[in-house]
Amino acid sequence: MAVLFRAGFSFIATSAVHAETRTVMTMEPNIEIENLNVSYISRNTRVRAVREFSLDLRENESVGLLGESGAGKSTVGWALLGLIGKQNVVTGEINFQGKNILKMTNRELNAYRWTDASMIFQASLNTLDPLITVGQNFVDLLTNKKTCDNKRDARALAWETMKLLALQESIMDAYPHQLSGGMKQRVAIAMAISTNPKVLVADEPTTALDTITQASILRLMKTLREQKKIRGILFVSHDVTVHAYMTDRLLVMYRGRVIEQGSTKEVITNPLHPYTKLLLSSERIGGQKEGVRAGASQDDVAPADGCPYVPFCPYAMKSCSESFPTARTIGQDHRVSCFLYDAK
Ligand SMILES: Nc1ncnc2c1ncn2[C@@H]1O[C@H](COP(=O)(O)OP(=O)(O)O)[C@@H](O)[C@H]1O
Ligand SMILES: [Mg+2]
Repeated sequence: MAVLFRAGFSFIATSAVHAETRTVMTMEPNIEIENLNVSYISRNTRVRAVREFSLDLRENESVGLLGESGAGKSTVGWALLGLIGKQNVVTGEINFQGKNILKMTNRELNAYRWTDASMIFQASLNTLDPLITVGQNFVDLLTNKKTCDNKRDARALAWETMKLLALQESIMDAYPHQLSGGMKQRVAIAMAISTNPKVLVADEPTTALDTITQASILRLMKTLREQKKIRGILFVSHDVTVHAYMTDRLLVMYRGRVIEQGSTKEVITNPLHPYTKLLLSSERIGGQKEGVRAGASQDDVAPADGCPYVPFCPYAMKSCSESFPTARTIGQDHRVSCFLYDAK
């Protein structure tokens, strides 16, 4: 991972230049998330999983969500695919080509998923029907989504896409349970991009894999981005080294809130929020595993409307418990939600 980390830093130096070029071209955002709030409701409890989340995701941009387990990263991804169950409360807007996907009918959502926006889940085996071969899974997807008119074309496209992920043709005839974890993830990525979606949500796509397999899959994904086989991507990971390698822009989340954001290079080399600083220092010391918390646990009491990091922040002031600070812009496109930066 240390090698990947160093490679990541040299990568972000060059990708920052590309990112700037892209910004100059000012493409319309593919996805505009405005003031998204998600609360999970179960029996008498309400978990405010995501609060006041906004993001513009442009064509060919790779945006990362960084934060420890429970920060709300997956919830943002699920919301973007319209996958939050109806019993929960979702407010705000997620606009895709002028249409709010939170208001789409099931039929509209079906047409949107895979063709416009795809997702690679943390446990991708669930994406595949275990009773049919990988090839049949692929063919069903491509014909159902009308990416291909017939089974023959679908099989050809499936094989073409699997080759991009360095998979053997024999895997087409294998059943999902016969694949190793790394192969399953590569099949999931192949399926997710075969329909040529504008936006791909990758939710910890390599977290469950060993370091070598993880590095090889990330390398493949980076190549696919360079070849524009992957267009806009929302990359979810608790691992900053993965973001250094994969993303142009980074949003740091803590207990449902975005507390800092900017270019990945800027956030990693010049973290501003006390939580980001701690998160990055623990990364540098030993590498962070998902589930290991750099700060609070879910049982710690944070103020309802203030900054959720208050119980652990050595700099907490009275105002931090009263309201959540709006983002302050520090330097170019680097924003932090922290009252500490008011005095500057
Ligand atoms: N289906 C659900 N029902 C109730 N609470 C949930 C559900 N899914 C996630 N949560 C809660 O929402 C919060 C954010 O979870 P999640 O989006 O999975 O975070 P992350 O992906 O950053 O680990 C956590 O407190 C989690 O326990
Ligand atoms: Mg998650």
